[in-house]
Amino acid sequence: MSHIAEAARRRTFAIISHPDAGKTTLTENLLLAGGAIRAAGEVAARGAQRRTRSDWMKIERDRGISVSASVMTFEYSDLVFNLLDTPGHEDFSEDTYRTLTAADCAVMVLDAAKGIEPQTLKLFEVCRMRDIPIITFINKMDREALEPIELLDEVQDKLQLDTAPLYWPAASGQRFAGMKDLTTGEFCQFDRRPGEPPHIGPATRIPGSDEDLLGKLDDHVYAELVEGVEMVTGLLPKFDEEAFNAGNMTPVVFGSALRHFGVAELLNTLRDFAPPPRIQKAERKGQVISVQPSDNDVSGFVFKIQANMDPNHRDRVAFLRLCSGEFKRGMKLKSATGKQLNIHNPLMFLAQDREIAETAYAGDVIGVPNHGQLRVGDSLSESGDIQFAGIPNFAPELLRRARVKDPMKAKHLRKALESLAEEGVTQLFKPAIGSDMIVGAVGQLQFEVMIERVAAEYGLEVMFEMAPYNVARWMACDDPDKLEEFLDRNKSASGTDLDGAPVYLAKNAWDVGYAQEKNPSIRFTATKERS
Ligand code: G4P
Repeated sequence: MSHIAEAARRRTFAIISHPDAGKTTLTENLLLAGGAIRAAGEVAARGAQRRTRSDWMKIERDRGISVSASVMTFEYSDLVFNLLDTPGHEDFSEDTYRTLTAADCAVMVLDAAKGIEPQTLKLFEVCRMRDIPIITFINKMDREALEPIELLDEVQDKLQLDTAPLYWPAASGQRFAGMKDLTTGEFCQFDRRPGEPPHIGPATRIPGSDEDLLGKLDDHVYAELVEGVEMVTGLLPKFDEEAFNAGNMTPVVFGSALRHFGVAELLNTLRDFAPPPRIQKAERKGQVISVQPSDNDVSGFVFKIQANMDPNHRDRVAFLRLCSGEFKRGMKLKSATGKQLNIHNPLMFLAQDREIAETAYAGDVIGVPNHGQLRVGDSLSESGDIQFAGIPNFAPELLRRARVKDPMKAKHLRKALESLAEEGVTQLFKPAIGSDMIVGAVGQLQFEVMIERVAAEYGLEVMFEMAPYNVARWMACDDPDKLEEFLDRNKSASGTDLDGAPVYLAKNAWDVGYAQEKNPSIRFTATKERS
């Protein structure tokens, strides 16, 4: 098959949700429905196995949250699905933002009793920024839910997203009976077998006529269903693929991830509507270009680095989202900044295993083992002159001074912090004066993760203290002399980031505003796009 046909069968998507809405359960059940795993509990088991390998995962277990993103590949219906896993906790949203840059589509999971929650909203905004099409899965219908029309209204009001239900539920909670397929008119029956494992696969379908349903559904539930269907078909617009692809309309599926209901239907919705790899904006020699999945030049960008997945080997894996061409094992790829890598052992991630990838295509994500040469935001290509746009670094919201208990180990600590900062989850700043190590993070939890990881992976006891600064801003100026002069005058409030880029370290936002006012030619920015 040509690389163009191979790319056309890739579907790369992420699941976004507020913690507890059921992302993990849905992921597992999607993998079951797609035949990628055979028994429920395997994803959790895989997690448990990983945890024994890496102590910092203890936080995940203790807090019941997921902090590390990964990718899982499976084939279904002649398509290759790449499911990008995104951490749900808000302290890790930066990681999630970056993962979404590698997705072509997102499944938004809502808890049917709660609707849109704060984290859903935040993640949705990232999808909107990039016009990522969204499929909505309204989960936990086996529990008492809000009125379905209320849930759709909320999506419409809070997200300004048109909703097009593909199914309509018959009641919820104890009375939940299933859902009507609004395309075929058939009824998907929720078969309730308490105490028994759920039936895996598509729901049993009953033809849609009244006679077929009467007697199978409670009279009230049936009447409610008929009324509901009449209302939505009259009120809501029909599903429009173009509006969906533009990120303006979301198809909606209802279900219960825990009882495996609606999951095969969701997977089929992904099969039918999730778009193939998108065209990506990039720069080549100062020119803005569009990289097509069908282009011959192999190209991609790094959206995540994970260090020490196997602590015995001190390994570092860069996750490279491919955007064009046919990648072959052993290929030499180059970055626009002149880095060169021979990729001998590219990894592919299956539900339970990693494998060596012999070939990969646009839409795929491969793991590139490396010794720190690659950073988040790096672009790699055969031609070596492509730089993809739009993987931001966000200014951290918390700054702390890192200290190690044993002062003799300060050098070791710097190495450890550098290596963790290279993963892109936390940031490391070096003030212009002194030898402090200033670590920046989006949330408190990241410092806790750092403490555990530095202990488990480097055997060092690190402490985080209040820093003399609270705000970090990147600085840029068209006139390098002006910037130089500013830095000279403000040595005590400046430093550099991991890449040596100049950073203004201020006590508070007011200081930043003041510096900006006094130095209008300098741009103080809260995001830094890597170049
Ligand atoms: P998350 O990754 O989005 O944080 O959610 P997760 O899948 O871990 O699910 C959160 C809780 O919601 C879990 O219960 C899970 O069993 C439950 N859940 C998920 N989907 C459904 C559903 O369709 N129906 C019902 N009734 N519950 C669902 P828990 O008690 O917190 O954990 P556990 O002990 O069951 O694992």
